[in-house]
This record gives sequence, C-alpha cells and structure tokens, in this order.
Amino acid sequence: NPSYITFIVASYLIGSIPFGVLIAKAHGKDLRKIGSGNIGATNVSRALGKNWAYICFALDVLKGLAPTLAFSFVIERPPSLVQLWVWLAVGAAAVIGHIFPIYLRFKGGKGVSTSLGMILGLYPYYTMTGLLVFVIWTAAVLAWNYVSLASIIAACCFPLILLVAMLAHSQWDITQLWPLIVAAVVMSALVILRHRTNIKRLFAGTENKIMQKKTE
Ligand code: G3P
Repeated sequence: NPSYITFIVASYLIGSIPFGVLIAKAHGKDLRKIGSGNIGATNVSRALGKNWAYICFALDVLKGLAPTLAFSFVIERPPSLVQLWVWLAVGAAAVIGHIFPIYLRFKGGKGVSTSLGMILGLYPYYTMTGLLVFVIWTAAVLAWNYVSLASIIAACCFPLILLVAMLAHSQWDITQLWPLIVAAVVMSALVILRHRTNIKRLFAGTENKIMQKKTE
C-alpha cells in the first residue's frame, strides 16, 4: 500500500524537525554547545530555562503523537497484523527521525519525548502503560534531578509493564499482538543506547543535573 510508505516517510521527516535547536537558535544560542550538547528539552532547560523546555518537550512529543494518531484513522479497528506492523513503523520512524535527523546530518537526540508521543498515539495498546511510565519518569526526575537516569529507568520499565498489562488484558491476544512487545523492546533499547555518555557520567558522578549549566 503506497500510502503506508508515505506515512512512514512523512513521519521520519516530521521526527527530524529539531525543535530544541530551532528554539535555541531563535534566542541566538547553539544548543549543541551548551550543557550536554543534546538537542532535547532537558538541554533547552539548561540553555533557556524551564518554560522553553516545556515547549520543546510538547513539540517533541507531538512529533511522535501526530503521525501515529493520524495513521490510526486510516486503518481498521482492530488493525490487521500488517497494519499493526506499519503503525509501529510509523511511530518508530518519528523516533528515528528525532535521533537521526536528516536536517542535522543524522546527529540528533535521545528519543525520549518523541517515544512518549508515539506511545500515546498507539491507542489503546500502549497508552495506559505509557501514562504509568510517564508518572514513574516524573517521580524519578523529582527524586534524583537527573533526567537521564529517569529516562533510562522509564525505558527499562516500559516493555516490562507492557508485557504484564497485555497478559492481564483478557481481550488482547498476545499471539496476535506480539509486535507491540517487540517494538517496545526495540524502542527502549534505542533510547538506552542513546544514553551511553549519560550512563558513563552517572557512574563517574559527573552527570548534568536539570537546569544546571555545565559543559561536558
Ligand atoms: O531526554 C534526554 C535526557 O534523558 C537526557 O538529556 O541533556 O541530560 O543528556 P541530557
């Protein structure tokens, strides 16, 4: 189906839009030379404060949410197995766009906000688990002040809680819906891999806290 390909490509191009870099640029700053150098909302908070960070977060979430939500209107309910795979590919394309953006020579962010958007858009399968993981993420940020640590914890929790939720849900046949588990594991692994330098800094005790202006 050619429209499926269009969705995946459009989603990648939307995911590629580096909102953090654009917001910082509009303020005369180069986000990649500030704090962790990352292009996400966390680093926007270091460069421009919390309000712009929230705006960047919302826009990066939207990059994952808009394509997956839009795609849900062109498929059957419940989706066929092929449609489920394509739906997941549409969401993954947005996250991959954020992490490897065509507009930044493929050097992008860590995919946390855009993954959250993708998760929320895959209604109903991922949504409740996603909201629960978002609560865990928020609690971890408040507890330790390290967004990276919270993101790693959230990424570890997501596939596990999802598996429990899917097994507990009597109407969800795991033999049909297993691609959701596969995609969750892949997306989480990708997010954790993108936090490699954060993990090193966390162990070394040199990780940037939220709002703290410090260069690597
Ligand atoms: O979403 C990215 C976050 O988990 C870490 O960001 O800037 O502290 O590397 P940063």
